Amino acid sequence: MKLVVAIIKPFKLDDVREALAEVGVQGVTVTEVKGFGRQKGHTELYRGAEYVVDFLPKIKLEVAVVDDQLDRVIEAIQASARTGKIGDGKIFVSTLEQVIRIRTGELDHDAL
Ligand SMILES: Nc1ncnc2c1ncn2[C@@H]1O[C@H](COP(=O)(O)OP(=O)(O)OP(=O)(O)O)[C@@H](O)[C@H]1O
Ligand SMILES: [Mg+2]
Repeated sequence: MKLVVAIIKPFKLDDVREALAEVGVQGVTVTEVKGFGRQKGHTELYRGAEYVVDFLPKIKLEVAVVDDQLDRVIEAIQASARTGKIGDGKIFVSTLEQVIRIRTGELDHDAL
């Protein structure tokens, strides 16, 4: 299993959610975050205005997937979150050791 963490532009959240649903994702966690990339937030536009602060509002998505879903999930996020401009975000993938559904005690693949 893999944990996919994606940082995206906030206005792309609906598009990404739809794209993830289309590839069969069963659950997603969404958090409002702030961050900066290699431009350090300085030249990036947010809602039409140039931000003069270092940290820009972003959305963090966390999606746990089985290994054979991974490529489709990455492609879905990349295609739906991309504008082609700086600040489109990043996708981080790491190995996920264990998943437990609290209600039933189901584990791993059965819990996703
Ligand atoms: N190395 C990193 N570690 C953790 N978070 C990061 C990292 N790089 C980017 N992020 C997060 O992703 C957000 C968007 O980054 P961004 O897309 O600007 O990356 P970039 O490397 O500057 O690429 P680009 O040149 O396309 O803007 C940042 O605001 C930050 O929240
Ligand atoms: Mg950047």
